[in-house]
Amino acid sequence: MSTLQERIDQTIANVADFPKPGIQYKDITPLFLDAKLSNEIVDAFAGISKGKVDAVCGIESRGFLYGIQIAQKLGVPFILVRKAGKLPPPTVSESYDLEYGQATIEVNETYIKEGMRILVHDDVLATGGTAEACAKLIEKCGGKVTQFSFIVNLEFLNGAEKLSRFTTDIVSLTAY
Ligand code: PRP
Ligand code: MG
Repeated sequence: MSTLQERIDQTIANVADFPKPGIQYKDITPLFLDAKLSNEIVDAFAGISKGKVDAVCGIESRGFLYGIQIAQKLGVPFILVRKAGKLPPPTVSESYDLEYGQATIEVNETYIKEGMRILVHDDVLATGGTAEACAKLIEKCGGKVTQFSFIVNLEFLNGAEKLSRFTTDIVSLTAY
């Protein structure tokens, strides 16, 4: 009987030279073709976060996919963290560096309550810039990031280093 991690590893597709030559792209979309596996993934994430968080922040766009399901399973609010210009006011913004240029994400500041314990959820932890910006946004609103969860951690990029000042509770279901 294979473990959940083994089944995730077997299902994620490795695509060579995408989006650029030399990059080994991890395509998570085959996970969503398998409803049974996806249910088990949501159950695993919910088990990891049970009793530890008051809300889940999912990062646009792939952080929405399991993020809202985790929140519903836990019975806590799901808060959308969106790319700039998508959410109506009142919002707060945080910019972060990409390989080329900058990106900005936003959240409705009234959704995050003072002292709220928040799970930041996304599909992939790569350099950590996106999740770090999300954590900064949450702190600006008075929330406290108590956990990060990802399907995949690309460990060789050391993203967790950027996140450890918020919390050391950084979980992934698999890592490469
Ligand atoms: C990808 C991925 C993470 C982020 C990880 O999202 O889904 O959100 O990059 O990278 P980082 O750790 O180096 O910041 P992307 O911005 O490509 O957008 P998408 O989720 O909308 O596809
Ligand atoms: Mg993303």
